[in-house]
Amino acid sequence: MNLNKVSPIIGIFDSGIGGLTVLKALCSALPQYNFLYLADFGYAPYGNRTEEDIVQRSKTIVHWMEKRGVSLVVAACHTSTSVLTEEHTAGISTPIVTMLEPTLDGILHHPNRTYWKKGIAILGTALTIQKGTLAVALQSHGFDLPIYPVACPSLAGLIESCDAQSVITYLKSHVFESFARHPVDMMVYGCTHYPLMEPWLLGHDTPHILRMDPAEHVARAVGGALSVSGPVARGDTTPRVCFYHTGTQQGPEQLAKHWPNPVTSTHTQLV
Ligand code: DGL
Repeated sequence: MNLNKVSPIIGIFDSGIGGLTVLKALCSALPQYNFLYLADFGYAPYGNRTEEDIVQRSKTIVHWMEKRGVSLVVAACHTSTSVLTEEHTAGISTPIVTMLEPTLDGILHHPNRTYWKKGIAILGTALTIQKGTLAVALQSHGFDLPIYPVACPSLAGLIESCDAQSVITYLKSHVFESFARHPVDMMVYGCTHYPLMEPWLLGHDTPHILRMDPAEHVARAVGGALSVSGPVARGDTTPRVCFYHTGTQQGPEQLAKHWPNPVTSTHTQLV
């Protein structure tokens, strides 16, 4: 699909299908834009790599997107977000929206916030939890309830493989059992893959706690960064999305499993 040359392009990247949860929120909030989505399957999983690897890879992707004329980049990946600092992005002129500020916003201004007494759990990849960027930012914004980080090193991979049964088993043994020891008011999806398992949880006995997907807050932050006050109707209301992927030959099929419209994805080596 060709992008509309007149409408600005928003670039979105993730290690795979996780960023589609953010792309979906962006498409519904900002249908007047063009979107370029990069699924970096060839470098996944990000969460098991080193901080230096992910900083470098994220910068490479941003530069690759700049060459394709994007106006703004969304790092739709909490793992990249947890390691990218202002120092790393100082030389990049294209604005970058990460998951950090929108997730903070979603937690700090949650409508139920005043009723919370127990604390929150943050689920994320090994690197995200090791870095602890979101927890530190919450505390520096005065969040005074306990924060329980829960590292889920294999969860994104199980979601990528659409292995619903193993996802449920993993959640029960690695995540839900921790809530018995540390009761919480809400669990935050600190990896963009995790909201994709929501349909698989239906009909299963899950703890009665809120689950937060920050995607809508990202869409709001992007709208703010582009000074858009709301969706602007366009002749055709379907946002244009161009998909790219690295690595696997099965990239387009992978993406199509989680995207409502037909997906044509172009393989790239990021050069
Ligand atoms: N979706 C990515 C995130 O939000 C990570 C998945 C991975 O480990 O590659 O952190």
